[in-house]
Amino acid sequence: MRRNIVAGNWKMNKTFQEADDLINEISEGLDELNLRNVDVIMCPPFPYLELMTDYAQEANFGVGAQNVSCYETGAYTGEVSAKMLQSIDVEYCIIGHSERRKYFNETDEMLTLKAGMLLKCGILPIFCCGEELPEREAGNHFNVVKKQLETALFGLDPLDFAKIIVAYEPVWAIGTGVTATTEQAQEMHAYIRSLITDKYGKEVAKNTSILYGGSCNAKNAKELFANPDVDGGLIGGASLVAEDFIKIIKSF
Ligand code: PGA
Repeated sequence: MRRNIVAGNWKMNKTFQEADDLINEISEGLDELNLRNVDVIMCPPFPYLELMTDYAQEANFGVGAQNVSCYETGAYTGEVSAKMLQSIDVEYCIIGHSERRKYFNETDEMLTLKAGMLLKCGILPIFCCGEELPEREAGNHFNVVKKQLETALFGLDPLDFAKIIVAYEPVWAIGTGVTATTEQAQEMHAYIRSLITDKYGKEVAKNTSILYGGSCNAKNAKELFANPDVDGGLIGGASLVAEDFIKIIKSF
């Protein structure tokens, strides 16, 4: 079923102690909220996932990783498998973030493998897509996002695709303080939903959560989330400040 979702992507931030303090603060903030209409997910760096899943048992949020290996097991130094994530109760995993595409050469073909690994282990992929600034300026943004979705995910069967959460993150908006306008976000989200409708039918498309990411913060979240096809946000910088993250959640 389509859900409103606010997911925090901590990226490569916080020491263990700082992470513990932040989780504590956010958990306290969540305690005071009625979370019936929104799912909260937190995606810390790998070393803090277990700490997070411990907290998650008491507090009302889901835990996600920021990456997963496209390999199953064995001699892949430095990699973390979907099965390992499953074994510590991780429920979600971001794949295809633009920083991974850019700095670690992640391709849509690799993302197909990653999505497959996660789904096999019952972990829900949060699939990131989005165009670079020159691509938008050239009017090519719809094609870029279409190709990312088609190449990485449209080989999945409908039952598996139904488990995907999509995050539209225009690269020019990530960490820049420049947010997509609500019109730009709604337009792209509606387009993504139309692609899903064409491929998998109305029912699957209607039930897919499509999040917006890119300088989404406590001030602009309400306006962004008010759009009919924006089902929440993938939050970077603002998820590192408990007060701001809670305010974003309250925007629903
Ligand atoms: P930002 O990052 O909110 O700091 O722009 C979003 C993301 O990269 O997921």
